[in-house]
Amino acid sequence: MKVKLLEVRTSVRQQNSISSQLSSLFVDAWRLHHPNVQHIVRDVGANCPAMPDDFWVKANYTLPDERTQEMINCLAPSDALIDEFLGADYIVLAVPMYNLSVPANFKAYIDNIVRVGRTFAFNRETFTLSGLATGKKSLLITPSAATPSPETDFCEPYVRAVLRFIGVEEMECVKVPNQFMPSDIRSLSIEGAEAKLLELAKTW
Ligand SMILES: Cc1cc2nc3c(=O)[nH]c(=O)nc-3n(C[C@H](O)[C@H](O)[C@H](O)COP(=O)(O)O)c2cc1C
Repeated sequence: MKVKLLEVRTSVRQQNSISSQLSSLFVDAWRLHHPNVQHIVRDVGANCPAMPDDFWVKANYTLPDERTQEMINCLAPSDALIDEFLGADYIVLAVPMYNLSVPANFKAYIDNIVRVGRTFAFNRETFTLSGLATGKKSLLITPSAATPSPETDFCEPYVRAVLRFIGVEEMECVKVPNQFMPSDIRSLSIEGAEAKLLELAKTW
């Protein structure tokens, strides 16, 4: 059976994106060790999912059996993204730091895939939450202009927390800092990330 790898690209740059270049490098290397793979690219940087609005939220909080056709249609793009996410065994997230956090396009993607009854469950008797997107491996590749300190990095901790919330416990992270530094420092950072990714590709 084919394993499925979902590569989510989130940089709005369609050329010269470090995160997209490094995720390609990783996926190509990883595929040498996994020949029977279905590889899906979801580029939310190029095609931003629609933000939830008033009607979307109403539809989402209506029990599936009670949804009108209009509600079903409204949630269809989100359901398609969730089906794709749930169907993947491996998830590579190419997510640059934007203003200390993640790109808005990626947040829109998250708002579409984190849904009650689909990727997490809410027990109405015990008031507890549990993730439903279990059994997956994930990898975050995250470049940034500088070297974020723990106080200014809301990217990696956020992605880790939101994945954990929906049940994805395993997340490797390769950071690529100093992209706005002089070219020798910048190149060193990219080379370091490439080496880490090529090594990880052998065992992930
Ligand atoms: C809108 C925007 C906001 C950014 N904010 C930050 C930031 O807060 N901290 C940082 O270190 N780099 C920041 N950067 C720099 C990017 O993280 C860096 O250029 C990265 O390489 C972009 O990813 P990409 O090469 O995949 O497009 C920002 C870039 C953009 C476009």
